[in-house]
Amino acid sequence: MNRILICGSNGLFGQRLALMLSPQTEYEVLNTSRKRSFVFDDRLFDYTQLDITKKGDVKSLVSSFHPTTIINAAAAADVDWCELHREDAWKINVVGVENLIEAARKVGARLIHISTDYIFDGTHGPYSEDDKPNPISYYGKSKLASENAIRIAGIPYTIFRTIVLYGHGIGIRDNFPLWVVKNLRACRTIHCSEDQFSNPTHVNDLAFAAVKGFELNREGIYHICGRERVSRFQFAVRTAELFGLDTGLIQRVKSSDLNQTAPRPLVTGFVTLKAQTELGLHPMDISQGLTVLKRELQGAGRN
Ligand SMILES: NC(=O)c1ccc[n+]([C@@H]2O[C@H](COP(=O)([O-])OP(=O)(O)OC[C@H]3O[C@@H](n4cnc5c(N)ncnc54)[C@H](OP(=O)(O)O)[C@@H]3O)[C@@H](O)[C@H]2O)c1
Repeated sequence: MNRILICGSNGLFGQRLALMLSPQTEYEVLNTSRKRSFVFDDRLFDYTQLDITKKGDVKSLVSSFHPTTIINAAAAADVDWCELHREDAWKINVVGVENLIEAARKVGARLIHISTDYIFDGTHGPYSEDDKPNPISYYGKSKLASENAIRIAGIPYTIFRTIVLYGHGIGIRDNFPLWVVKNLRACRTIHCSEDQFSNPTHVNDLAFAAVKGFELNREGIYHICGRERVSRFQFAVRTAELFGLDTGLIQRVKSSDLNQTAPRPLVTGFVTLKAQTELGLHPMDISQGLTVLKRELQGAGRN
């Protein structure tokens, strides 16, 4: 039987994975995350606390659970936080992954890992899997270092790179459309860049690809993102329109005016042909993704 260890199950992507994989009877799934408690009822899904930066804890849990696959949904994914807390970001995004690699090697497990478009410099997106990375932020550098550690480790692996992940989750950090909705509902003006272009990705598309890749035993790197490339300004306007909010509160600015702590790659986006042909990915466009998000929020009583 496939035994799956999920790390970071309390995050946006980790929660989707937990919901998709835990109920399936052909797998034994152990969810883990840094916090003691699970966002879902741990009488329904198996859960235990695991901080991936604690090498000894990773080693002993992996030795006792003996997973066939480890899926790493854990990360320090706040780009500005990583820029300011470099040592901690490295510890989570690189040392944590090295701990998983070492533990995976001991039990012969496959490692599935999530990476980002921020490993590219944003000068000539959309990028394919073979394009040369050149991160411009510390977050991007740490994520590229984790990819490289996995690629040279000599263990079976799959890396899914994704972009501006969004969706509803319990107790998660605000993602871009949630931030837009929260501010516009409070009648607050927001400033969004008109020169940062990428393909926002509903978390269901990433979860679909990761589960498919796992089921089909695919290895290597896959690019996963939503179907449409938009600027942050356009994404904010589309969000406001779909949620029936005031688009007049959205101010169009240049990235350089935002004074963001970490530099952002300006033009990314991915070529997703490989994932479409090998995994059967049919990524959502913006309207579809936002419609799913709206329904999720309504379902959670947050409309
Ligand atoms: N969000 C995006 O826009 C985006 C874009 C491209 C790629 N990605 C990548 O996609 C993946 C998933 O991102 P996400 O948006 O789902 O992130 P997220 O919602 O921030 O979730 C990350 C989870 O990792 C957990 N975590 C952090 N440090 C940990 C540690 N030391 N040990 C165990 N768990 C730890 C966090 O736990 P706590 O809840 O305790 O903090 C959090 O629940 C990441 O690899 C990220 O780099 C994200």
